[in-house]
Amino acid sequence: MTQHQRSLESIQRYYGEVLQSSDDLQTSACCIGATPPRHVADALGHVHDEVKARFYGCGSPIPPTMKDVHVLDLGCGAGRDCYVLSQLVGANGSVIGVDMTKEQLAVARKHRDYHAKKFGFANVEFREGFIEDLRTARISDESADVVISNCVLNLSPDKTSAFGEIFRALKKGGELYFSDVFADRRIPPDVAIDPVLRGECLGGALYWEDFRRLIAAVGCRDVRTVERRRVAINNPDLEHKTGLIEFYSVTIRAFKLDLEDRCEDYGQAAVYNGTIPEAPNAFDLDDHHRFVAHKAVPVCGNTADMLSLSRYAPHFEIIGDKSIHFGLFDCGSPPTPTVGNAAAPIKCC
Ligand SMILES: C[S@@+](CC[C@H](N)C(=O)[O-])C[C@H]1O[C@@H](n2cnc3c(N)ncnc32)[C@H](O)[C@@H]1O
Repeated sequence: MTQHQRSLESIQRYYGEVLQSSDDLQTSACCIGATPPRHVADALGHVHDEVKARFYGCGSPIPPTMKDVHVLDLGCGAGRDCYVLSQLVGANGSVIGVDMTKEQLAVARKHRDYHAKKFGFANVEFREGFIEDLRTARISDESADVVISNCVLNLSPDKTSAFGEIFRALKKGGELYFSDVFADRRIPPDVAIDPVLRGECLGGALYWEDFRRLIAAVGCRDVRTVERRRVAINNPDLEHKTGLIEFYSVTIRAFKLDLEDRCEDYGQAAVYNGTIPEAPNAFDLDDHHRFVAHKAVPVCGNTADMLSLSRYAPHFEIIGDKSIHFGLFDCGSPPTPTVGNAAAPIKCC
């Protein structure tokens, strides 16, 4: 058996046998208490209790304006986010959840009829497969409008293949929106192989700079941080093992677009129409781009493309084009956090 297979088996055992509910987790790395937006909280209220009890995510990777969208949830677990999305995409949208752990999928599938009856339509499917090779779950090229994932990519022993597969599965202009655990440095091998730390989403946490390089290597040269919170481990033994490493739960947005590796200035501006139902006053693209409705905001070429070549296009007017280049664009910095457990900003644009 290869190291890759051993690693996957250890994760399958952790999520299939060791954990029976979120109460069994040994740290707060999964299940960080981020408050979801109101429309997500409302949809969560309709999800079956057994599904919610097996939630091991670390954020709320559900972007706005999801009606009629075709979504892929990688490492869907017991299906909590899939059943939330089912309601948001509606009868004309669809949700495919992919996971490799039979026990997790069994809980997700057990409640399919319950949710179909409650929502009045059945638009969710759960498929067994590996995120490093989505063909194992019969996911075809350019089939998803949006790919989400909640606390899964850190667990992958082959993250390059996993991100490569995401961009294969996304349609052109499609959006990757995921929450995961990141570290402020590369994880040393003794921490990385510890089965509990790995299972608890810490051992495989991505070091931001390596993540940025990795995702650029699969074709995505500009990723945006939407939200970032410090992870409190709250377990003295595991804190001792991880030492000075700081962990963060981060929600990331990226698009399948041909973007530049720096923010370049073409003199463009974006105006948000205020037409996204969940965001009538302002749309936050990331942690330092807030578009207040009806106000023109100067943007770099990449931001202009994200807003005009994706499913956000009907909600924005872009002023100007790329015919004249004015040099590098200062994309600004995320706000300095003031809340107790928030982290120092990462500049990612
Ligand atoms: C931390 S749990 C998160 C589950 C779910 N996203 C949630 O929010 O409750 C990680 C899930 O990813 C699945 N998983 C981990 N590595 C995987 C891989 N390489 N391929 C497919 N599924 C994987 C596990 O089986 C587990 O269900």
